[in-house]
Amino acid sequence: MIGNGRSDVHVTITGLGAYAPERVITNAELSQLVETSDEWIVERTGIRERRIAADSQALSDLCLPAAHQALEQAGIEGKDVDLLIVATVTPDMMFPSTSAILADRLGATDAAAYDLSAGCTGFMYALAQAYGMLAGGLARRALVVGGDVLSRILDWSDRSTVVLFGDGAGAVVVEPSEEAGFLAFELGADGAGGEHLWLPGSGSRRFEDPDRFVKMNGREVFRFATRVLVQSAEAVLEREGSTVDDVDVYVPHQANVRIIDHATKKLGIPSDRVVINVDRYGNTSSGSIPLALADAQEDGRLRQGKLVLMTGMGAGLTWGSALMRWTMGLEAPSAEPATPGQTTRPPAAAEGGAAA
Ligand SMILES: CC(C)(COP(=O)(O)OP(=O)(O)OC[C@H]1O[C@@H](n2cnc3c(N)ncnc32)[C@H](O)[C@@H]1OP(=O)(O)O)[C@@H](O)C(=O)NCCC(=O)NCCS
Repeated sequence: MIGNGRSDVHVTITGLGAYAPERVITNAELSQLVETSDEWIVERTGIRERRIAADSQALSDLCLPAAHQALEQAGIEGKDVDLLIVATVTPDMMFPSTSAILADRLGATDAAAYDLSAGCTGFMYALAQAYGMLAGGLARRALVVGGDVLSRILDWSDRSTVVLFGDGAGAVVVEPSEEAGFLAFELGADGAGGEHLWLPGSGSRRFEDPDRFVKMNGREVFRFATRVLVQSAEAVLEREGSTVDDVDVYVPHQANVRIIDHATKKLGIPSDRVVINVDRYGNTSSGSIPLALADAQEDGRLRQGKLVLMTGMGAGLTWGSALMRWTMGLEAPSAEPATPGQTTRPPAAAEGGAAA
């Protein structure tokens, strides 16, 4: 399990962007395709609608506007980026990587570019990698993109999966900074649970009856999700010496309102600090957390000095949390000051090493 970095270099997010395709599919529309209802979907998942990519759109087409927006916010151009990571399970194609395609379209000619696969946790893994590359001096400006076009790998006659997912992408620019920024990470994987959420016929493993669509054991994934969202959040907070009371903005993976509610209650985070947009986008996999960050930025919740906790979980089975002090945009009102000391501290080393 990856834990805290040990670096004096502070690293933070300096630009943020998101994109979801125009086409909205409501629960009512889905109930014409499979035997389901708006009532069932809302009660079990909290999802009301999701966005679906047009036939002409591949993942890089969703990533491109998100990336442009993030670069613009950071005040830089594609050519200034030297590291580009795209977290996804639905690349344009197996190779070349979507990140190489995106780098070309952004004019990021000097960037090392690669895709990263960690299911719905991909964006958290990619953030940690970018942090490590920048803190270690290997890169100076990273563009981290998370996105998926899950609609392409869903069985549209399977009501147990088709109601849950949507398409979307988000991007952040990550740069060294005067102040932290990222404070701690906690990532993990349990491959033993892999077959609870998988796409078995998608690679080099031969199956008797290959399948091109997502297969999921909903109940097992639900149990896993409710457990790791809490455990990972508690672990990352403990590593930084913070508590849930310090958290200003909680951005959980947007899979299901019931999963988020469960984690929020167990952690004891007041609901007004929780970012939820799964009702409008469904589960967009690697796009979920950056899309939620973009929403929180737009509604004014992400302000300078705010302590932000993000936790993702998904196929692998994987999970990952990041704790960061938000350093962009307007300052938080003086009634809610940032905790002194925490804004400037680099990630502290976990006691006894990185493993937890
Ligand atoms: C999928 C999920 C919403 C199902 O909710 P649930 O309360 O666990 O429901 P169950 O699986 O117990 O199914 C209850 C019944 O509803 C049925 N059902 C499943 N999908 C349905 C749908 N879309 N509409 C209507 N009925 C549905 C089932 O067939 C089952 O019927 P049965 O009892 O006759 O077999 C829930 O398990 C879940 O959210 N799991 C996590 C999934 C997830 O987040 N995956 C991505 C992680 S990154």
